[in-house]
Amino acid sequence: QAIYRKDYHQPDFFIESIDLHFSLDEDVTLVHSQMVIRPRTTNQTVPLVLQGESLVLKNLKLNGQVLNTHDYQVDKIHLTIPTVPTQSFTLETIVEIKPQENTALTGLYKSSGNYCTQCEAEGFRRITYFLDRPDVMARYTTTIVADKNRYPVLLSNGNRVEYGELTDGRHWVKWADPFPKPSYLFALVAGNLHCHGGKFVTRSGREVRLEIWVEPQNHDQCEHALQSLAKAMRWDEERFGLEYDLDIYMIVAVSDFNMGAMENKGLNVFNAKFVLCRPDTATDDDYENIEAVIAHEYFHNWTGNRVTCRDWFQLTLKEGLTVFRDQSFTEEMTSAAVKRIQDVRILRTSQFAEDQSPMAHPIRPESYIEMNNFYTVTVYNKGAEVIRLYQTLLGKDGFRRGMDLYFQRHDGQAVTCDDFRAAMADANKMDLSQFERWYDQAGTPVVDVLGTYNALEKTYSLTLRQQIPANLQAWHIPIAVGLLGKNGQDLPLQLATETNSNRTCIIELREVEQTVTFVNIPEAPIPSLLRHFSAPIKLNFSRQREELAFLMAHDSDPFNRWEAGQQLAQQVIFDLLADWQADKPLQLDPLFSNAVLKILQDTQLEGSIKALMLTLPTEGFLGQQQAEVAVEGLFTVRQFVLQQLAQDHYTQWLTIYKANHHTPYSNEASAIACRRLKNVALHYLCRLDTAETTALAEQQFTQSDNMTDQQSALSCLVNTTGTAKTIALTRFYTQWKENPLVLDKWFSVQAMSYLPDTFENVQALLQHSDFNLKNPNRARSLLAVFSQNQAQFHRADGLAYQLQADIVLQLNTLNPQIASRFVSVFNHWRRFDPARQALMQTQLTRIIQHPDLSKDVYEVVSKSLNAQ
Ligand code: ARG
Ligand code: ZN
Repeated sequence: QAIYRKDYHQPDFFIESIDLHFSLDEDVTLVHSQMVIRPRTTNQTVPLVLQGESLVLKNLKLNGQVLNTHDYQVDKIHLTIPTVPTQSFTLETIVEIKPQENTALTGLYKSSGNYCTQCEAEGFRRITYFLDRPDVMARYTTTIVADKNRYPVLLSNGNRVEYGELTDGRHWVKWADPFPKPSYLFALVAGNLHCHGGKFVTRSGREVRLEIWVEPQNHDQCEHALQSLAKAMRWDEERFGLEYDLDIYMIVAVSDFNMGAMENKGLNVFNAKFVLCRPDTATDDDYENIEAVIAHEYFHNWTGNRVTCRDWFQLTLKEGLTVFRDQSFTEEMTSAAVKRIQDVRILRTSQFAEDQSPMAHPIRPESYIEMNNFYTVTVYNKGAEVIRLYQTLLGKDGFRRGMDLYFQRHDGQAVTCDDFRAAMADANKMDLSQFERWYDQAGTPVVDVLGTYNALEKTYSLTLRQQIPANLQAWHIPIAVGLLGKNGQDLPLQLATETNSNRTCIIELREVEQTVTFVNIPEAPIPSLLRHFSAPIKLNFSRQREELAFLMAHDSDPFNRWEAGQQLAQQVIFDLLADWQADKPLQLDPLFSNAVLKILQDTQLEGSIKALMLTLPTEGFLGQQQAEVAVEGLFTVRQFVLQQLAQDHYTQWLTIYKANHHTPYSNEASAIACRRLKNVALHYLCRLDTAETTALAEQQFTQSDNMTDQQSALSCLVNTTGTAKTIALTRFYTQWKENPLVLDKWFSVQAMSYLPDTFENVQALLQHSDFNLKNPNRARSLLAVFSQNQAQFHRADGLAYQLQADIVLQLNTLNPQIASRFVSVFNHWRRFDPARQALMQTQLTRIIQHPDLSKDVYEVVSKSLNAQ
């Protein structure tokens, strides 16, 4: 059942062109396809095997001749023609499909009455018979016929070349895409949509029409998406010399979408969540995510579409690279340090956890059962870290040289991660063979570091040692290091082997163990290690709390300043946990409380960084650091620390709150920073659950003119114990019940509550008339969010597990991709105590015994149960 990377073979046939004709109808949709197929070699006698799923074959012609039923075979997933010509030939098929019954949201389906498609990875085969693999690149023309009243807008890839009307109230449009592309980039949209248009002139003078297509009622929520697109287009020209290549770029927002968005050539289809926004409906984070996802999909036009993947094992070739590109873009558009911290947080909470789970895989997996299960944080986010490693090793200019060579060599091709690595190596005349291990080896590298100061010689040595698991080999790891003097300033760094000196130096760790020595170090320094998180590893270096507080106050690298604060908080929390487990009274270390106070009072520190530094590590992240997750203990102790910090610095929180509360709304970084700070302050204050703090939140809730403040206030209020909570929830619901994306927030805020009745509340919300399991955003807003609420989801009685499994089984038939995501929370079952393990195992066993399990769910659950 599994497919292996080592089994890759070139296709036996190529498809030069495909002419598609869609007749969209409420009952059955007819898809007529005409392909020109060319055998790879002359005189080959292999059968032609096309993929096709949930299709009803109505007609089949080869070179214009209808085929007899004994000339071909059809099974559930193939169309096989044993004998075909040895020269190029045409194949014509007509199939019937029913998009209106498609709840899996892959292939052609309906969303809010409109037709749309999602073909990556293997959805095109649910539209027509095809060689549905990325190394088969064809030229597409697409004609769409549909009722003109219901579906006035008909879109597909490329340029609109012809259109007309039929006498029966239907109309048609024909599109032609001049660029050959793999089938996963095909797209079609038909519906009643409003266009928010603009234009962009490329630096070489091409005028590009930009179109954002949305449901008519959302016409006033498109401008930010449009601006983001233009910014991304400009940035890619400036940073990478990459220009857009068609005369039109379309983005369509749909409400039912499994993922974030899809980079179909010239016609991106987006989850509405990553397009629509207005200050009163979308938070600052929503704005930032929209800009990032729009950029991500745009960047795919070169990294993904012009140069695509040879096979799906190479997914990180386009995704890791494109995530790295969108991260770099956001770093330059906003704040590099803030963005880096946010990205590392995601990597460490989700990807490091995936590495610890039975679904652990290298960024280039060796096998899969269902490809959709490998659109993971490992392939995407760790993949982006690996691309960042090239840049760290080669420098920005060297990286750019590598990119240039990559496009020069491979434009128009379907290639591999090795091709990318070779371009980087060749362009820089550097040996990157050891670097392949980042693609081969799963897991998070661990590096232990020891530092020694020699007062006599005035040298400081760092010994770095990689922990190499059995059967693996040493990674090639760049580690950025600085040394702080007693005054908190960076010392000039000079390696024993070098004459030049610097404040941050990159140590290239290639061996299992290496020692580097810095000379002319006048005093015992405090090392700042792995600055800006220069590699996706775990670095162990034992430190006293004083030292962490010192780095937290002084490190010139903002990332490491934040990191020191997180490590300090973690130490404090784990020590308190030991006390709690030993039934001792809890007392917050004044050193930590003071370190927090210093941050609160620091007038130099940028507001967004400050807000991040005032945020404790999550229960999920803390749990990951333990051999066995202490569910109740972590929850109790973390709550205690938050409460204590709220009390200790009550006046300072209030001061910060008031100082930042009156900044008028704007989408500028400085105004965003004010909102971040004041909302962190509000959350601390509301921990005290007094009449005064609740009044503050209520006031903000009713008076705010933007969603950031309104949602923040609401999320404070849901954790209060008086009537304010119900009043606010009702009010929010009434205000926003017509806006699905905002209503999602209403569900989420409740699912995130830390009050003990959260599970019962989630159960009740499942019955709410606005809950709809078929809509992925709504399902995620309640259930995926709840499953991240560690203490409430992992209730000791296992009721939440049972509920989750019930949902997974329902989704298994409705939408296997979402089912598989939802079942993944159980992946970590062995990291919990025996009682919880047994409860989760029971649910996993129940799921795997279910008849008709999708490949998606089967793969995750079977790996989860079998792994040690
Ligand atoms: N390529 C899309 C994106 O990044 C994601 C599509 C995922 N689709 C899927 N079926 N897993 O940017
Ligand atoms: Zn992508």
